Amino acid sequence: MKKLLFVNSCVRGEASRTQELCRFYIDGFIKSQKEHGLEWETEEVTAAIMGSLKPLDRAELELREKLLSKGDFSHGMFNQAKQIIEADHIVIGAPYWDLQFPAILKTYLERCSVTGLTFVYDENGVPHGKCRAHWLTYITTSGGPIDDMNFGYDYICGLCGLFGIDETHFVSAESLDIVGSNVPEIMEEAKVKITEILKQMEGRQSE
Ligand SMILES: Cc1cc2nc3c(=O)[nH]c(=O)nc-3n(C[C@H](O)[C@H](O)[C@H](O)COP(=O)(O)O)c2cc1C
Repeated sequence: MKKLLFVNSCVRGEASRTQELCRFYIDGFIKSQKEHGLEWETEEVTAAIMGSLKPLDRAELELREKLLSKGDFSHGMFNQAKQIIEADHIVIGAPYWDLQFPAILKTYLERCSVTGLTFVYDENGVPHGKCRAHWLTYITTSGGPIDDMNFGYDYICGLCGLFGIDETHFVSAESLDIVGSNVPEIMEEAKVKITEILKQMEGRQSE
């Protein structure tokens, strides 16, 4: 069975509009894939799990270097990297915070990014991604307009290049906190966009 990894950095939990869009996406994705005979299971990395991770400090970095030089990936510090490599499709839910996303997501991604696991260098020093996933979808909502300051998604696209994930999709519901905004209508528009993305994926293999 194929695995969808839901990286859910929606700190506000059930109150989160971003999470609402993610659930809509995931339910629709699994349903449409099932209609084409493909079974998927979902693994979720919750905001609480991400919040329990620490940014790499000096001691851990030194241990990591030592283990990497021996090619020993058995330590628990490599669990997030293994998790992201093994996913067939990745969905990131990330509210637009400070022009990017919550810090817990950065900490999680820092732990996913491991030379020798998520990517390897060839003899010419060129990195090659090792992630199995062909698709990554990034879903966000924001208080105001994002315009050309889509730094969170831009960063994720850069990482996807490194990790070997070659098709990314972006969904946003913007300006939700502006007085007078028609929030239900903006959310509905985002759901229409999600439905269009799912249509594009329908019947296609994830790798
Ligand atoms: C810590 C924090 C930082 C935020 N930074 C921004 C920002 O830089 N730009 C913006 O338009 N909205 C910003 N917002 C508003 C959120 O993007 C907006 O309320 C979003 O819909 C929250 O998503 P959620 O409902 O999934 O929690 C911020 C909100 C919080 C709590």
